Amino acid sequence: MELERIIIRDASEDDIEQLSNIEMLCFSMPWSPKEIKEQMESSSGARFIVAELEAASEGAAAEAPPKKLIGSVSAWYLPPWEIQIGNFAVLPEYRRQGVAGLLMDALLAKAEELGIPDISLEVRPSNAPALALYAKYGFLEEGRRRGYYQGKEDAIIMWRRGPAKEWKGLGASAQDTDR
Ligand SMILES: CC(C)(COP(=O)(O)OP(=O)(O)OC[C@H]1O[C@@H](n2cnc3c(N)ncnc32)[C@H](O)[C@@H]1OP(=O)(O)O)[C@@H](O)C(=O)NCCC(=O)NCCS
Repeated sequence: MELERIIIRDASEDDIEQLSNIEMLCFSMPWSPKEIKEQMESSSGARFIVAELEAASEGAAAEAPPKKLIGSVSAWYLPPWEIQIGNFAVLPEYRRQGVAGLLMDALLAKAEELGIPDISLEVRPSNAPALALYAKYGFLEEGRRRGYYQGKEDAIIMWRRGPAKEWKGLGASAQDTDR
């Protein structure tokens, strides 16, 4: 697989079925299509970035070839300071080829664009591939949640902190300053 054939883009409701398929193939407690839809529809819900494999162009196809999603990252955007990553997932047969790296680059570019400095996540201590991915991108362990995964496994809390910004207050304006 060539990375040039991968399109990284924001997900839409048209992607719910394939997002749910990725969830099922990658996680023991996958989000259902209904749960993904609810996240997308909620103003405070998670947003998804997806990796789509561009179909090989073999002659002039009568119809557009079906798109295939091979990876995704979900995250909650909590401006002005934080983005919380929900899940990173790449379909098993497409792993170790840089797809999660592309998704991470896109997420970091979004954080930069929005001026959000810090990114946090939880990960299982047993998840060596994910720990290696996050370490590669500068995430550091800052704590643990005991029994976070069904009371059976702790979560490592990791942060990637950007430079501190000046605190502008909760929508503070000039007339707020006398309160
Ligand atoms: C974690 C996961 C998203 C990585 O996806 P991927 O597309 O294979 O990752 P990439 O190929 O982009 O690798 C990026 C970096 O991650 C690390 N990495 C990824 N998989 C790894 C593995 N199996 N072993 C060691 N390091 C690994 C490496 O540092 C790699 O950089 P390198 O290629 O320069 O060595 C994928 O393994 C996955 O979907 N796992 C199941 C779902 C999951 O556990 N998600 C995380 C939940 S918190």
